[in-house]
Amino acid sequence: MENPTLKHQMLRRKSVATLMSDAETHSGGLKRALGALDLTLLGIGAIVGAGIFVLTGVAAARYSGPAVTLSFVVSGFACAMAALCYAEFAAMIPVAGSAYSYSYATMGELVGWIIGWDLVLEYAVGAAAVAVGWSGYLHTILKGVGINLPDVISRAPGAGSGGVIDLPALLIVLIITSVLYIGISESARLNSIIVGIKLFVIGVVIVVGAFYVRPANWSPFAPMGWSGVMKGAAVIFFAYIGFDAVSTAAEEVVNPNRDLPLGILGSLFVCTALYILVAAVLTGMVPAHTIDMKAPLASAFFLRGLNFVSGVISLGAVAGLTSVLLVLLLGQSRIFFAMSRDGLLPRVFSRIHPTYRTPYIPTVLTGVAVGVTSALLPIQEIAELANIGTLFAFVLVCFGVWILRNLEPELRRPFHTPLVPLVPILGVVCCLYLMSSLPMVTWIRFVLWLVIGLAIYFSYGRFHSRVAGIEESESAASAL
Ligand code: ALA
Repeated sequence: MENPTLKHQMLRRKSVATLMSDAETHSGGLKRALGALDLTLLGIGAIVGAGIFVLTGVAAARYSGPAVTLSFVVSGFACAMAALCYAEFAAMIPVAGSAYSYSYATMGELVGWIIGWDLVLEYAVGAAAVAVGWSGYLHTILKGVGINLPDVISRAPGAGSGGVIDLPALLIVLIITSVLYIGISESARLNSIIVGIKLFVIGVVIVVGAFYVRPANWSPFAPMGWSGVMKGAAVIFFAYIGFDAVSTAAEEVVNPNRDLPLGILGSLFVCTALYILVAAVLTGMVPAHTIDMKAPLASAFFLRGLNFVSGVISLGAVAGLTSVLLVLLLGQSRIFFAMSRDGLLPRVFSRIHPTYRTPYIPTVLTGVAVGVTSALLPIQEIAELANIGTLFAFVLVCFGVWILRNLEPELRRPFHTPLVPLVPILGVVCCLYLMSSLPMVTWIRFVLWLVIGLAIYFSYGRFHSRVAGIEESESAASAL
């Protein structure tokens, strides 16, 4: 009897109807305050960050050369396919769990759990990596004005140069956590201000940089051929992470059916266009092999004698990374919240603050865990885990749209992914291809992470699942 039960547990689905009614009853307390513009800004807030300000340099100098523009097109295309699938789900099932809840509804509890666990790589590991990047940029700015932060308090152990603790990384995570604790409106307001600053800085890079482009720098265009372009695409994929985070705010949106697709697709569209332009300008300004890998944009302007603009870019990068942190931490706490509401994580994770109406316990726990990790571990080593984790979630979301079209064709879909199954299939193929371009060591770490997740599910989640409780009460009722 054990095996059929286990199989049943792993495959039980949380129906769309239950997902929606749960969200209504249990999250009646989350505050609905966001509109389409807030969501688009949240998306841009999460997207424009370390990817464009740091990794563009790594991809161009190491792999793609000037063809990093093409790497941005390839990654952007994969994300666009995934975003179209996210938009259908988010409008149809506007709940906080995002890909976790969509997978639970389509592929069952085990896959749902795996994705929820996998999203920790995107949100929490991603946030820890961004916090370290933030601290690095701060270091550079302070140095520029003659303040030298000792490495002992500004670098994690193992990150070289004798660091003991990365205090700036810890502090910024704790500050952002306190904003998230206080409220969604306050968080969205802070995000909008920061997004304004970083869009201004990106605009300066494009407009001023365009005058300093030397077309000769664009050749050879792809020094390492197609494989270089693809490796570059897998690295800069990180730059696109975040548009999906918009969907984790679903229960805090006034009109989710209409606004979520707008926020997801709008933010991705704006950022893709900006990225391609920035990449073209950067590789036109300085020869690709000389691009600085730590602060490529600021250094390119510095090299061309534009010291003031270079300083402005560094400030923009610090601001930019702050909002990425904000949205990634927001996303992580909402996913834990949704998983706890389903019983797959302990109940305390879904408690809502009586005054601030935020899921304050997962917010604080995520903040402390991410802050301590970024302060004490050489997180940059494992930052690529965020890419593989996110790509994996995208693959399942693309599959999920197609599956649910077949399982429950009659459901009301305020947004339709176009050309199903073509778009989902293209999404799956592109994301798998990008995953295959990541290094072996990233794959090994990824598999290990999933194994840990499975152990937790089999020892906790499957015994505490609320869907199991619902099934039991339904069968008891039908036996009466
Ligand atoms: N896309 C975000 C960044 O580049 C995660 O920082």
